[in-house]
Amino acid sequence: MKRLLLVHHTPSPSVQAMVEAVRAGASTDEIRGVEVVSRAALAATSVDVLEADGYLLGSPVNLGYLSGALKHFFDQIYYPCLEETVRRPFGAFLHGNNDATGAVRALEAITTGLSWKAVQPPVVVTGEPGKADLEACWELGAIMAAELGDV
Ligand SMILES: Cc1cc2nc3c(=O)[nH]c(=O)nc-3n(C[C@H](O)[C@H](O)[C@H](O)COP(=O)(O)O)c2cc1C
Repeated sequence: MKRLLLVHHTPSPSVQAMVEAVRAGASTDEIRGVEVVSRAALAATSVDVLEADGYLLGSPVNLGYLSGALKHFFDQIYYPCLEETVRRPFGAFLHGNNDATGAVRALEAITTGLSWKAVQPPVVVTGEPGKADLEACWELGAIMAAELGDV
């Protein structure tokens, strides 16, 4: 059984809707052999990261950057996980009100530092998530699960 770790900071219904869509896609019955484990960014540990085979990361955009919660997650797992998680796959989703550029750049820099491998570009939603946005989140979850499991 492969483990997919979903790390998220969820301060509002918009981000919550995205998290639920990503989790639903990651848990689809069409893909077997993947267990999805969810952790709030402020509670996730380096052991959670080491024990997982791939990662889904979700955050609002705050002050032109990732949320402090997801930044804190990366700050504390970075060195303990640096050597053992090289080339592990990840996917990300971000929500902002108008501009996610700085958060996208930060995520790319951090995950490049960790040598994680993006399965696709981040899903970025501004404003209230619509049907197509939530479908993109569902697909992100399913693509990540397919990367680890048996289709
Ligand atoms: C302190 C703070 C800073 C924020 N900074 C940004 C920002 O730089 N860019 C942006 O697009 N949205 C920004 N936002 C909006 C949040 O990303 C948004 O509130 C969050 O994703 C939740 O969405 P919702 O408020 O529509 O439910 C900020 C929100 C807060 C509370």
